[in-house]
Amino acid sequence: MNSFDFYSPTKFVFGKDREKEVGSYVKEFGGTKVLIHYGGGSAVRSGLIDTVKKSLDEHGISYCELGGVKPNPRDTLVYEGIELARKEKIDFILAVGGGSIIDSAKAIAMGVPYDGDFWDFYSGKQAKEALSVGTVLTIAAAGSEGSGDSVITKVDGMLKRGAGSDVIRPRFSVMDPALTQTLPAYQTACGATDIMAHVFERYFTNTTEVEVTDRLCEALLLTMIKETPRVIEDPNNYQARANIMWAGTVAHTNIVGVGRDQDWNSHGIEHELSALYDCAHGAGLAVIMPAWMDFISEHHDGNVMRLCQMATRVFGCEMDFEDPMATAKAGIHCFREFLHSIGMPINFAELGAKEEDIPALVEKFGLGDGRTGGFVRLSSEDVAEIYRIAAKAEL
Ligand code: NZQ
Ligand code: ZN
Repeated sequence: MNSFDFYSPTKFVFGKDREKEVGSYVKEFGGTKVLIHYGGGSAVRSGLIDTVKKSLDEHGISYCELGGVKPNPRDTLVYEGIELARKEKIDFILAVGGGSIIDSAKAIAMGVPYDGDFWDFYSGKQAKEALSVGTVLTIAAAGSEGSGDSVITKVDGMLKRGAGSDVIRPRFSVMDPALTQTLPAYQTACGATDIMAHVFERYFTNTTEVEVTDRLCEALLLTMIKETPRVIEDPNNYQARANIMWAGTVAHTNIVGVGRDQDWNSHGIEHELSALYDCAHGAGLAVIMPAWMDFISEHHDGNVMRLCQMATRVFGCEMDFEDPMATAKAGIHCFREFLHSIGMPINFAELGAKEEDIPALVEKFGLGDGRTGGFVRLSSEDVAEIYRIAAKAEL
């Protein structure tokens, strides 16, 4: 195991109806003038925005609103939010929604006290300060409610890029699993896929002697395999929703990733798909992650053994000691089958992506002659090959 720092300062407030208490947490963390940030309307239709306003009113906290965040949130609304927040002297941003809304809130939070263009933080610069952010989560997926990350799409060129800093970790996140019961099955499955991908990005490592984090990762993956079909079948299954919601947070606070190298190439490769086609991030990952596994299985014996560990411990495959590659492939097949069973696409056609766009996707990935990835170092040609495998994948 490697040495590590683990910093996860967010207060998590979990359970039914806890959103009614949101005003008290804004107060606890010093908010006096709040920007309520939300998406395309699901939180308005469900009555959640009214509940939030009522709680803020009860605590004497004033607020203004900015809705309209789109999935794959855009820089254009972030600029609008920064301007509004400065004009209204906002000191707290309350994101009500999913990862897109939380990420947009984090971007506004960094942009308000910064003299330059907030996009600098999505081009490698580290933010040193930000307004406080709190969240009321409505979808288990991105893990942004507990992460120091934000992903924004620049409309000019449709570039999707991430920023990371401890200053944007939410002060608190209110998590009521019942709020996720209105999610359509497809969005539920996209979220589940993203959660599993966050675990796999950490699970595939060259660091040895990481039993505790390996086992934590496997616990999360087994939970997702058990609980996701239950909520697809019965969207109102509160207990299954609760397990998925907490799994989503645990998967991405990095508690299961500390002390080990991590990979993250599947996320980078997927982000080009959701930028170009505006597809859901989780759906893009369903196509890319097994294709990445197929690719790495062909390239190193060590990779095969990690895939065998996944196959046997997570998907219950029998270990074939004579032919470990067969076990690795069986594990990848189980993963694709699982994704298909919950309604996820498994190839380009099902996602709405086109094979002829692969050169453009690789170009935007922007690796040039370099290599990237913590588990397997990929070149641009490797990335192209992963897109090609993803394009043609079959069960
Ligand atoms: O906009 P509304 O009307 O709210 O509808 C949303 C949206 O259409 C809908 N939805 C959310 N909660 C709902 C609901 N519909 C009915 N009932 C509810 N309770 O679901 C759709 C997707 O919402 P979104 O916020 O985009 O989902 P998600 O949480 O999957 O966020 C995806 C974004 O997060 C980024 C992704 O790249 C993507 O842009 N990521 C952020 C990360 C982070 N900050 O740490 C890490 C991730 O790897 C990921 O990259
Ligand atoms: Zn993700």
